[in-house]
Amino acid sequence: MTTDPVRAQYETYPYPARDPKEEAHRLVEGSPSHLDEVDHFCFAGRLRSRSSFNVLVAGGGTGDATVMIAQHAKDRGLTANVTYLDLSTASRRIAEDRVAARGLDNVRFISGSLLDVADIAPGPYDYIDCCGVLHHLEDPAAGLAALASVLAAGGALGLMVYGTLGRTGVYPLQAALRAMAPESDLSLRLSVARRLVRDLPASNWYRRNPLLEGWDVGTDAGLYDLLLHPRDRAYSVPELCGLLDGANLAPIAFMEPARYDPANWLADPALIRRVRSLRPVDAWALAENLSGTMKTHVVYAARRDEAIGRVAEPAGADGIPMARPAAKHLVPALAKGGVLKMDLDGHAIRREIAPGLAPLLERVNGERTLGQIGRDLGWDPGTTAKRFEKLYELLNPIALLTLRF
Ligand SMILES: C[S@@+](CC[C@H](N)C(=O)[O-])C[C@H]1O[C@@H](n2cnc3c(N)ncnc32)[C@H](O)[C@@H]1O
Repeated sequence: MTTDPVRAQYETYPYPARDPKEEAHRLVEGSPSHLDEVDHFCFAGRLRSRSSFNVLVAGGGTGDATVMIAQHAKDRGLTANVTYLDLSTASRRIAEDRVAARGLDNVRFISGSLLDVADIAPGPYDYIDCCGVLHHLEDPAAGLAALASVLAAGGALGLMVYGTLGRTGVYPLQAALRAMAPESDLSLRLSVARRLVRDLPASNWYRRNPLLEGWDVGTDAGLYDLLLHPRDRAYSVPELCGLLDGANLAPIAFMEPARYDPANWLADPALIRRVRSLRPVDAWALAENLSGTMKTHVVYAARRDEAIGRVAEPAGADGIPMARPAAKHLVPALAKGGVLKMDLDGHAIRREIAPGLAPLLERVNGERTLGQIGRDLGWDPGTTAKRFEKLYELLNPIALLTLRF
């Protein structure tokens, strides 16, 4: 048995809990690392012009990102080599079964610590996913430096770490459980945690934090991960930017960008004007402080001197717009016109709907260029460009509309 409590946890409770049989019914997709998002926000929409794409999933767990990236690459005709790396062999078995269930042949599996990646899986990698892992390391900076050391020139990372404000109430409860259930028997600790959570006083901050209601504490793995984890910490935006900076990396974009725009958390036009000229990092930090909702931070990053010019530009008729399925559900609302009400973590933002957006969005299929769509609609290039700009302003900040070239 291992002496590392983090590894011991993930051997006993692979997380998130996944059943390989589910692969027949659904593909788990998310951020970071949805390939259309990576293409748009990290590779200026030009991912498919590469002859190969080397990906590392560091701390791959039960396989969500590995399966998603490998499947997306296959669906998009992109030659990708995906390397899964994790400490937990129990998690690896589940991830392997999921990959096998889909018949994917573009994944290799490696067991070990990401701290040793340069020796055991040196790469280099064009893209590195590290979702929900760095905040469990004894020394997250050393972990990120190890990943940066195997990043290819021009490569990018997609990271997720816990957010401090959105997890208000988690850490006092973790401390309470360390005091009340210090034993090494995992199932006993779980039973104490369940009893404690059931009857917490109404004044307890965990109970008072509505953001935690959706957290998966129904499964043993989920409850353990949230409240009994032997090692986790959370980051504010400036702390996360500092972590990146220490590894000679810089943020490209936080996801979804609309959540990190402080103007979206303000109502008074005079205050909105005040935030317009902030540096990006100050704006992201302000958005976090105003919203209070960020339980996690998803950030795309690159080497400090390669972080500019990474995001696809919405200019030109040769761009191919790609819409996520959730965007397509907005077509009837866009056709109706007026104001579109969008939900940002429970906070409503309203956007005026410009004319012509519904037929445009309806024709976005991830294959046709904007020019072709405009011609199909009988619009001149100027009208097409203007209308697309409006659609892009509406949906790109919530990552529902991206571009490839
Ligand atoms: C919360 S899970 C996240 C799994 C996956 N990235 C996801 O988002 O679904 C954290 C994973 O990190 C792995 N892990 C923790 N420390 C690690 C290390 N030093 N090297 C490699 N994997 C590690 C654990 O074994 C566990 O599978």
